[in-house]
Amino acid sequence: MDVLVTGAAGYVGSVVSEQLLAGGHRVIALDNLGQGHRAALGPEVDFIQVDLCDAPRLDDIFSGRNIDAVMHLAALSIVPHSVSNPEEYFQTNVIGGLNLLNSMLKNNVTRLVFSSSASVYGIPESIPVTEDSPQIPIHPYGECKVMFERILKWYGEAYGLNSISLRYFNAAGATSLHGEHHQPETHLIPNVLKVPLGKVDHVTIFANDYETEDGTCVRDYVHVIDIADAHLKALNAIAGAGTKAYNLGSGTGYSNLQVVRMVEQVSGVSVPVVFESRRAGDPPVLVASSDLAGKELGWVPQYGLEEIVQSAWQWQSKFLDGYSD
Ligand code: UFG
Repeated sequence: MDVLVTGAAGYVGSVVSEQLLAGGHRVIALDNLGQGHRAALGPEVDFIQVDLCDAPRLDDIFSGRNIDAVMHLAALSIVPHSVSNPEEYFQTNVIGGLNLLNSMLKNNVTRLVFSSSASVYGIPESIPVTEDSPQIPIHPYGECKVMFERILKWYGEAYGLNSISLRYFNAAGATSLHGEHHQPETHLIPNVLKVPLGKVDHVTIFANDYETEDGTCVRDYVHVIDIADAHLKALNAIAGAGTKAYNLGSGTGYSNLQVVRMVEQVSGVSVPVVFESRRAGDPPVLVASSDLAGKELGWVPQYGLEEIVQSAWQWQSKFLDGYSD
């Protein structure tokens, strides 16, 4: 299939593009390179630098091509920035996304896989989180994901759009080619890895006074390869799907301190920890039930935390400064 991927030069987008190509699909890669890296895409990819807020350009891109399906991963995604700057987040993540949908429909493209997030649930009432849990986001980033999923539902009913939203829990890990290079880096695993890489002398952990076993937050880490695999499975299921949403998690939670211990085990280097106060917007525990994705998409994650950390460690050691551009 000819698949247009937005945010293709980003962390998850680059791995999704890698797997699409490996699966024999053609990738039309869109990115504004605000956070993404041109070097994260191979030369075989048809790359177009464009911002989703540029609606006329999007129309041109769609009208000149035969596109079978769209994978929409482009988004601003730094939670604390979304709190201080909601305008930018709603503009890019909601209005930009609407421009994309409208260009798709004008050109009879009716298949969309959307990169959603566990943040739609806010602070969940019960664990593991199922897809029918209440959606009460606690920051504008999560609100954008909820709003866009609701738009998908109404566009499905009115215009026949088929969409599958994939609610990622904590994407982590790397392939041999593609890994995580954010500026600034806010995620736990790459920040802990900075210690064995010799970039910093300790990791800051945001609080140890939560009501969890060791007092630190608990998260459900999913290998980015498994996440990309879910996108391909969603693509296979998208024809006639209507509007669907699936959690992507492993069903197992690890505390921040357990992640630190895993990095120590994998790297062989001890990691000093400094505790700071709680980070705004952090739910204490986020663990998914992904039974629905297993049942309906045939998706079962293949990798655990050790393989996730191992792959991230290998990638970060090889590309010490991340991507060159
Ligand atoms: N953490 C630290 N120190 C760091 C970085 C993170 O202690 O240097 C802690 C966080 O406070 C949190 C845990 O590690 O307790 C995980 O934090 P991440 O930033 O790695 O991931 P989040 O769970 O905050 O965020 C992820 C996605 C978001 C998504 C969110 C859903 O990255 O895009 O899950 O709640 F919105």
